[in-house]
Amino acid sequence: MGRVDGKVVIITGAASGLGEADARLLSAEGASVIMTDINEEAGQTIAGEIGAEFVRQDVSEEAGWTALIDQVMERHGRLDVLVNNAGIAIIADVLKTTTDIWRRTLAVHLDGTFFGCRHALPAMKQGGGGSIINMSSTAALVGLSPYFAYSAAKGGIRSLTKSVAIYCRERKNGIRCNSIHPGSIDTPMVEAALAGLQDVKLAEQRDREATRIAMGLGEPSDVAYLVLYLASDESKHVTGAELVVDNGDTAV
Ligand SMILES: NC(=O)c1ccc[n+]([C@@H]2O[C@H](COP(=O)([O-])OP(=O)(O)OC[C@H]3O[C@@H](n4cnc5c(N)ncnc54)[C@H](O)[C@@H]3O)[C@@H](O)[C@H]2O)c1
Repeated sequence: MGRVDGKVVIITGAASGLGEADARLLSAEGASVIMTDINEEAGQTIAGEIGAEFVRQDVSEEAGWTALIDQVMERHGRLDVLVNNAGIAIIADVLKTTTDIWRRTLAVHLDGTFFGCRHALPAMKQGGGGSIINMSSTAALVGLSPYFAYSAAKGGIRSLTKSVAIYCRERKNGIRCNSIHPGSIDTPMVEAALAGLQDVKLAEQRDREATRIAMGLGEPSDVAYLVLYLASDESKHVTGAELVVDNGDTAV
C-alpha cells in the first residue's frame, strides 16, 4: 500500500527540482499525478518515466487553471491534492528590482498560488476534502535582500495559506492548507542563483558534492518527503502550519 494510494494530485512546476522530486515520490507512493509546467519537453519526459500525466500550464494565467481543473475533474472525477510549487527567482535587491521583475515575480508566485487555491477549493469540496500545499521559502520568514521581490512573494504565500486554512476550518469542508519553507536545496534554481551571485567562490568549486556540503544544501527529497506527509491522511490534523525544512538555518 502506498501512502497516497488512489489520490489525485496536481503538482505545478513539476518539470524540475522540487516539483519533479514530489512527482516522482508521490507517484511511487500510489498517487495519480498530474504534472504541470511551462517546460513542456522536460515535463513530458518525466511524466512518461513515472506514468504521470503532463499538462502545459503557466500558473500566472487564470484561464489555464480553469481548463486544468475541468480536465482533471472530467478525467478523474476528483482532486485530492494541489502542490503550488512553480516558481522563479530573480536576483535583484530593492533598488535593482524593476517594475517588470516585481510584477513577474508576484504573478508567478502570488497570482499562481492564489489562482490554484481558488480553483482547487470547489473541486476538492466535491470530493469531501483535500490538501493544498504551498511552496513558500525561508525567505518568507527572514529578509533576503538580493531577492527582494521573491521574498515579498513568499511572505504573501505564507499568509494567504493561513487565510485559506482558516476559511476551510470554519466551513468544516475537510480541506487543509499548509506552507512549506525550504532553505537552500540543491536544484537548478539554486545552481543558477549561486552562479549569479557575486560571491562565487563556492559555486566555482568543481566538485559538485563538495559545494553541496559546503553550502549546507538539502536534497529535493528532503522537501518531497514533507510534501508526501502533507498529501497523505497522516497529516489530517495539520492545517494552517508553516513547516520549515532548512537544517536549522532560521533557528540560529
Ligand atoms: N531550491 C530551493 O532552495 C528553494 C528554496 C525555497 C523555496 N523554493 C521554491 O520551491 C519551488 C521550486 O523551486 P526549484 O528550486 O525546484 O526550482 P526549479 O527552477 O528547479 O523548478 C521550478 C519549475 O517551475 C517552473 N515554472 C517557472 N515559472 C512557471 C510558470 N509561470 N508556470 C508554471 N511553471 C513555471 C519551471 O519551468 C521549473 O520547472 C519554487 O517555488 C521555489 O521558489 C526553492
